[in-house]
Amino acid sequence: MGLLIRNNVQVGELALQQATFLLPEAARAIEIGEQLDAQRTVSRGVAWKNSPHRDHDRRARTRCLPLPGGLLAAMKVPESGMPEETYWESLFDIPLILDRLKIDRTVGHVAELGCGYGTFTLPVARRIHGTLFTFDIEPAMIAHTLARAAEEDISNVNAALRDVLATGFGLEPECCDAVLLFNILHFPQPDDLIRKAAAVLRPGGRVLAIHWRSDIETPRGPPLHLRPKPSDAPRWADAAGLTVAEVLDLPPWHFGVVLAT
Ligand SMILES: C[S@@+](CC[C@H](N)C(=O)[O-])C[C@H]1O[C@@H](n2cnc3c(N)ncnc32)[C@H](O)[C@@H]1O
Repeated sequence: MGLLIRNNVQVGELALQQATFLLPEAARAIEIGEQLDAQRTVSRGVAWKNSPHRDHDRRARTRCLPLPGGLLAAMKVPESGMPEETYWESLFDIPLILDRLKIDRTVGHVAELGCGYGTFTLPVARRIHGTLFTFDIEPAMIAHTLARAAEEDISNVNAALRDVLATGFGLEPECCDAVLLFNILHFPQPDDLIRKAAAVLRPGGRVLAIHWRSDIETPRGPPLHLRPKPSDAPRWADAAGLTVAEVLDLPPWHFGVVLAT
């Protein structure tokens, strides 16, 4: 079941991104697990983009999509699956987190590893003046986030299917003011990922990481032994030639780390 991308990952990325954004039929097909031919879907999507039914159809695409199985298992972070969306989004004080991380109108382009449901993607996109480039290894998460962005008329989200651990962000060097690593740094050697993040930061840019605390009981989060700690921050910074600018409390359950160029 699920979306089948027949060609290589590059073709799949293009197809899914364009198809789900442009063609509601494609999003519905993904929902019911229908198989799509990537190239054909893109060309039909472009035709639909110019059709008068577009605005009406956009509103139909809000349902949560099932996760397709086994499409890109390559380097998915372990324990990075998500609970039900409403529950997940009840676990964060999003305005507080974004305020403390100083995500506001002064911020230009941003890259994000793991959009998930778009929990942070959409509120961040609303605050910044640049584009939010977000990536996920799960096609359903990309489709869902793009559908939410369309529903909320947010036009500065660019979401693509990508294994960021394996291939990096695929963005121009030094193009971003910030890279978001939210609820993702729970694997043993994140140094290489921090370097990939640092590579797309312009001078003055920041890596912004948040994660579940391991010094208190939390209602969710990966197993305690996998969770990163604020004390890991100097090692991450050293690995990528960054400095630890701030360690933050992000109640109720998270801490944050700001690494600066
Ligand atoms: C725990 S969720 C967090 C989502 C979002 N950052 C948030 O905090 O709401 C982690 C997300 O990262 C994605 N992910 C895991 N490994 C990945 C990889 N190697 N490349 C891109 N995305 C990945 C998962 O599919 C999942 O959607």
